[in-house]
Amino acid sequence: MRIAFFDSGIGGISVLHEAMKQLPHEDFLYFADTLHVPYGTKSKDEVLTFVKQAVETISKEEVSALVIACNTATSIAISELRRIYDMPIIGMEPAVKPALAMNRSSGKRVLVLATPLTLKESKYRELVSRIDDMGMVDSLPMPELVQFCEQLNVDSQQIIDYFHAQFAPFDLSLYGTVVLGCTHYPFFRSVLKKILPDSIHIVDGSAGTLNRLTQLLSDRDQLLGKGHSDLKWMCSDGNPAYLEKMRKALQLFEVVGV
Ligand code: DGL
Repeated sequence: MRIAFFDSGIGGISVLHEAMKQLPHEDFLYFADTLHVPYGTKSKDEVLTFVKQAVETISKEEVSALVIACNTATSIAISELRRIYDMPIIGMEPAVKPALAMNRSSGKRVLVLATPLTLKESKYRELVSRIDDMGMVDSLPMPELVQFCEQLNVDSQQIIDYFHAQFAPFDLSLYGTVVLGCTHYPFFRSVLKKILPDSIHIVDGSAGTLNRLTQLLSDRDQLLGKGHSDLKWMCSDGNPAYLEKMRKALQLFEVVGV
């Protein structure tokens, strides 16, 4: 049985990478919806249809648990998927709670970067209104980052210029934490570290998701704990060039994401 990871494209590899480090004795499957990436600029109904189609394909594999390694897909489809399937399904959400906790003593603000659809959805708005009682959270959609990432363009001058332009309206000295609320964004971590003031922490949602995954699998006694790990790549259009790109992205993440 494999632990499956699903994203619109290569973004979820940032979560897979961490999972492979934490669970080195498990087998993994990674599925990218190459036919429909990006999700974050599409309508809720379209994304729900695409996610259901993709998970239908994944469910035909031998899978012990499914990680929706995509904040956008989680916010649109997780309840529906949990109604349809018996397997454990773990989602992602922007790490707003840990970010607010980090800043409690400094009184600094939190800036959440995510796709337009994630930021528009009620799941995100409810999360923020539940925990941000002091009004410390600001949000900034960055849809272009998904396109750059899909081209493996993650640390060029174009990216640096893009970030400078996006952050220009913000007084960054007011911020203590930037939340990467899209799984494509950790690919830009090394550029962000260069651009943002040293005092700003950069957090993503992988840790919470992977803790939940490990807990669920161990409760069900489904951790394989064997001598080696195997990884199977899949994508919705079956394009061999994209399978190769996913392998490259995993290697690239070692360099730019950690
Ligand atoms: N990686 C995804 C996320 O975490 C979605 C990116 C996209 O397809 O727009 O939100």
